[in-house]
Amino acid sequence: MATGLKDVEYGLDKIFDGAEDFLPLLGTDYVELYVGNAKQSAHFYKTAFGFQSEAYAGLETGVKDRVSYVLRQDKIRLVLTTPLDAGGPINEHINKHGDGVKVVALWVPDATKAWQETTARGAKSFMEPQREEDDHGYVVRSGIHTYGETIHIFVERNEYNGVFMPGYQKWESHYNPEPVGLKFIDHMVGNVGWGEMNKWCEFYAKVMGFAQIISFDDKDISTEYTALMSKVMSNGNGRIKFPINEPAEGRKKSQIEEYIDFYKGAGVQHIAVATNDIVATVSAMRDRGVEFLYVPDNYYDDLAERVGVIDEDMELLKSHKILVDRDDEGYLLQLFTKPVVDRPTMFFEIIQRKGAQSFGKGNFKALFESIEREQANRGTL
Ligand code: FE2
Repeated sequence: MATGLKDVEYGLDKIFDGAEDFLPLLGTDYVELYVGNAKQSAHFYKTAFGFQSEAYAGLETGVKDRVSYVLRQDKIRLVLTTPLDAGGPINEHINKHGDGVKVVALWVPDATKAWQETTARGAKSFMEPQREEDDHGYVVRSGIHTYGETIHIFVERNEYNGVFMPGYQKWESHYNPEPVGLKFIDHMVGNVGWGEMNKWCEFYAKVMGFAQIISFDDKDISTEYTALMSKVMSNGNGRIKFPINEPAEGRKKSQIEEYIDFYKGAGVQHIAVATNDIVATVSAMRDRGVEFLYVPDNYYDDLAERVGVIDEDMELLKSHKILVDRDDEGYLLQLFTKPVVDRPTMFFEIIQRKGAQSFGKGNFKALFESIEREQANRGTL
């Protein structure tokens, strides 16, 4: 299977050469999900994904209308939020979309400037710069809208040394399952509606100063039944990468269309998290009940031919059903969970990069056939 990635031949430093970075991003600060039951979701992410209890906000901390649990594993922070009352925007979000990502928060040196620069370039404001403080210092946050009802919050926290941010207290728990080796967010993928991919790629280019590093069309990513198109947008230092998918015409309904139908619009499709040892991470997660996409045995038949020499034992990868792909710079190992929420919407990817900076294009076909099997089971193909 070919893995030619012509658009990657120029590195990020070349793409951004000479460009002034008006929106410097230090990394992903946190990802906030609006969920139906934050307490139980938190238990799931601790038990199944090895996240650690970090912070809590709710009635006990003076917050009257919602609870938020903050979980952490290495550099990854998840915030799980549930309203405590009927009505209101959080309930509306959950009612419409089911559990899903509301906020992709980005860590910035200056949240006021981030808001000014992006809104001046056409971003719709979600939240004007707001300073929150307590005994441990202050945090400034601001926010803009992106695809669907998803939000980017800019977080400036260089003058804060408390737990998470003002309004939260340390979450002490007697239940602390071991981490599974998840390190940081490698990329987060958005699904957008028919014909909307370019619009949102232009948004990231114009409003946030990102550049397109890769594109796939329906000739790259199609099976007998379904197709999609995708472009990957990256910021200047490569720490933030947002692939944007849109459905393409196929004989049957694509997984992107299925997502859009069930999520009722555009939203975050998957969160890809990096590990240094994918075999250990995936096997720990399986033991703890995480369901991964089925990979057929015949995927491994011509793997050596496709990816060449790799450090890992192919039999071991086969026994753990881990996918491999190679590009010009190296290879990567990856695997995808089944949706982690009730609707067939959001899932996670576990990824270990061995030089490759691409996204596993050579695996898409095998993967989509596996997803189609799941769709057929759901009667949504
Ligand atoms: Fe991915």
